[in-house]
Amino acid sequence: MHQKEIKLIEDSWDYILANTQEAGLVFYNDLFEKNPELRALFTTDLNDQARKLVALITFSVNKLNEFDSLVSDIELLGLRHHAYGVKPEFYEMVRQSLMFMLEQGMGENWNTDLAETWGKLYKHLSEVMINASYNHLAIKRTN
Ligand code: HEM
Repeated sequence: MHQKEIKLIEDSWDYILANTQEAGLVFYNDLFEKNPELRALFTTDLNDQARKLVALITFSVNKLNEFDSLVSDIELLGLRHHAYGVKPEFYEMVRQSLMFMLEQGMGENWNTDLAETWGKLYKHLSEVMINASYNHLAIKRTN
């Protein structure tokens, strides 16, 4: 990502963390309202989940300058998601609720630049996660 994009993401995420107590819960409520079939995948406490989601995004945002060093961690995250029963097509559902949460959190400060840049970050993360799951399957098949 370019320096300008990283700054955009960092500033908006700081804003959300400072202004939204319940960003994670906004996200999960929206996700389950639109896709009730996903609810059964989540077996642990949603407050914990929300905290993990916020922590993971914060972690990625803080490390955007060195995204490459994160790839192996994100691949492992992708493999764990495969084990949770997450299918590739679910990533689009999660993307939509993440964008909804960001839009809600940013209020009138939300704009197309932010939407594009966050979209790019999510695409990047989800591609690494999905590819890791597929490679894992390919390895399993040849063994
Ligand atoms: C960029 C995309 C995503 C990121 C960064 C992300 C991040 C995380 C993190 C950090 C955890 C905590 C557990 C762990 O580290 O293994 C987690 C758990 C989980 N995520 Fe995701 N996730 C993403 C996409 C998705 C999608 C598309 C789904 C599909 C519905 C999903 C469903 C789950 C489930 C079911 C769990 C485990 C919940 C439980 O044990 O109750 N995630 N995710």
